[in-house]
Amino acid sequence: MSSSLKRRYRALPSRAVRGELSVPGDKSISHRALMLGGIAQGLTEISGFLASEDCLATLAALKAMGVRIERPQETQVRVYGAGRRGLSASSAPLDLGNAGTAIRLLMGLLCGQRFDSTMIGDASLMRRPMERVARPLRDMGARIETTDGRPPVRIQGGACLVATDYVMPMASAQVKSAVLLAGLYATGTIRVTEPAPTRDHTERMLRDFGVALSQQGSSVQMAGGQPLRGCQVQVPGDFSSAAFFIVAGCLGASDSLTLRGVGVNPTRTGLLDMLRLMGAKIELRAVGSSATAEPVADITVRRSSLRGIRVPEALVPLAIDEFPIFFIAAAAASGETLVTGAGELRVKETDRLAVMAAGLATLGVRCELLPDGIRIQGGMPLRGGYVNSDGDHRIAMSFAVASLLSAGAVEIDDVANVATSFPGFPTLARAAGLSLED
Ligand code: S3P
Repeated sequence: MSSSLKRRYRALPSRAVRGELSVPGDKSISHRALMLGGIAQGLTEISGFLASEDCLATLAALKAMGVRIERPQETQVRVYGAGRRGLSASSAPLDLGNAGTAIRLLMGLLCGQRFDSTMIGDASLMRRPMERVARPLRDMGARIETTDGRPPVRIQGGACLVATDYVMPMASAQVKSAVLLAGLYATGTIRVTEPAPTRDHTERMLRDFGVALSQQGSSVQMAGGQPLRGCQVQVPGDFSSAAFFIVAGCLGASDSLTLRGVGVNPTRTGLLDMLRLMGAKIELRAVGSSATAEPVADITVRRSSLRGIRVPEALVPLAIDEFPIFFIAAAAASGETLVTGAGELRVKETDRLAVMAAGLATLGVRCELLPDGIRIQGGMPLRGGYVNSDGDHRIAMSFAVASLLSAGAVEIDDVANVATSFPGFPTLARAAGLSLED
């Protein structure tokens, strides 16, 4: 999104969050469905697709590499798989916009192709670290160059990939997924071991596409060279989008707030564990698994008196995208909340520890920034004020929810990137009872 299109939210205090909502489809699953569909044989039909800027960047990249894709409706996509060897070179660099998942997973997918590729992105993506993915791929024989560790990423085609036994130094689903995708083009059996569990959508979906994988403890193993078979992918609601309303319900539900059809894969729902430790009243009603073997539930939240906690470090990777909104919950909770072991937050779309700490301080919340976390003193009323989201979608939405705690208007600058993950957020927020002008 161009920075000349800077947009702003004005969120006014409101005390009446309630009702039933459905959030748009899951971003991680939508990216993966397009990519796996693109290299599968036969047709992949995706329903519940997230038509956000990030996922549309992946869709455009696959089209640029010759994949036929139709969108009969906004959230329905038909991908006519080109087969594992059926992609062709794009005539221009692939522009992945703000989408870290797109560029990193495509690094894995493209290093086994016979053609060269170049990938770029927006100002935020061009600052993000890519060597964490390039390094293990090079160990497999890939020819990849980053630019001082960042995009542009240049991949030379025609490399012969060999399987690796990779022990990841950081808990990252993007790194794990990139190595697995490259493994589809490698000879031998690949093994990836993670230091802590991270989202496993790639593993689940590869199985749906007919690829055999085995999980042993913290390692996943897969024989290279397996073909993929197109399938039906039903994308559940994005837990990371539901998270804003889950916290809004805890802070300000007049009765209750229910989110329908949300993906509740346990590798994504660390926020529920953290909020429950704080005393949140949250109930889940399972509504079965989607066709992608992803568990789905309706989530009902009631207004809750929250207490500060020390966040168990094991929960951090399971809630990695939810920390901005969790910090708002921590500001509402009585006493201190301490987060450590969350250094990864510094290399997201922004340095989420620093940008959130600055915004919280503007609203009068006492917090102390730590190298790998934050200490927040909660339970005091917030004042209104002007907060810069620094173009980070999740930070913009988090401060919109913070208005439930504040005495005056919270103005949030640079919110256009909300469209990268959650198109329609302002409309849904108003439907839930937030007072949000955009
Ligand atoms: C994602 C993995 C996470 C997450 C990102 C989506 C994915 O990133 O923050 O929003 O879809 O695999 P890391 O792998 O860098 O932790």
